[in-house]
Amino acid sequence: MTLIIRNEEKKDYRIVEEITRKAFWNLNIPGCDEHYLVNIMRTHPDFIPELDFVLELDGTLIGNIMFTKSQLISESAIEKNIVTFGPVSILPEFQRKGFGKKLIEYAMNKAKELNYAAIVIFGNPSNYVNLGFKSCRKFSIYTQNKVFPCAMLVKELVEGSLANENWLYQESPVYNFDQEKAALFDLNFEKLEKSIRGSQEEFYILSHSRIFDNLS
Ligand SMILES: CC(C)(COP(=O)(O)OP(=O)(O)OC[C@H]1O[C@@H](n2cnc3c(N)ncnc32)[C@H](O)[C@@H]1OP(=O)(O)O)[C@@H](O)C(=O)NCCC(=O)NCCS
Repeated sequence: MTLIIRNEEKKDYRIVEEITRKAFWNLNIPGCDEHYLVNIMRTHPDFIPELDFVLELDGTLIGNIMFTKSQLISESAIEKNIVTFGPVSILPEFQRKGFGKKLIEYAMNKAKELNYAAIVIFGNPSNYVNLGFKSCRKFSIYTQNKVFPCAMLVKELVEGSLANENWLYQESPVYNFDQEKAALFDLNFEKLEKSIRGSQEEFYILSHSRIFDNLS
């Protein structure tokens, strides 16, 4: 088995979009939009090409991870340039075999080499806690309306770099895309059936949950 992690190249674009679509299809909603996000992200100013990786198993692409620049702004107006990843995808037939973990760990080490202090993501904690991600509450990182979402997870790449401050997280606007454009983009792909799944309810619950706690 030969496993290679390398930067995404132009020739991979369509394959990566197909992998993303298969990984997310019917997972969070009936159908998915993440392959559109992948498509528009690559030309967005917040995109970090050095942190755009594919995972190749015996010459076939089976996974991808992409990062964007984001910011933390403290109450005393300190600004920290950090990163956010997502989408991250592994083809369904290769999931839960450790490939995602290898890809994420590799990419996180590269982000550290590029001197980013931390990673903030939105995701299902069960995918990330064993990679060292912790609740945003532990680092006092909140969103615009001062809430601590349960799905907002943080990993310090430089230990202690987020200590002793309260931080507002600002993600890249690329994540607020037009869903109608995403639906049109999906017409360029092979037809897949949309269906209702339990994972969509899990996504709803998680993405609407917050840690009920005031900033102290
Ligand atoms: C999320 C995803 C990228 C993870 O990649 P993967 O190769 O499937 O995951 P791995 O096998 O490397 O496991 C990573 C962690 O997931 C969890 N995990 C693994 N197998 C699991 C299982 N059967 N049930 C629940 N959690 C499991 C564990 O926490 C594991 O870490 P550990 O091995 O230290 O315990 C991949 O499953 C995927 O593409 N999913 C669909 C798209 C998606 O959800 N993307 C992320 C959005 S938040």
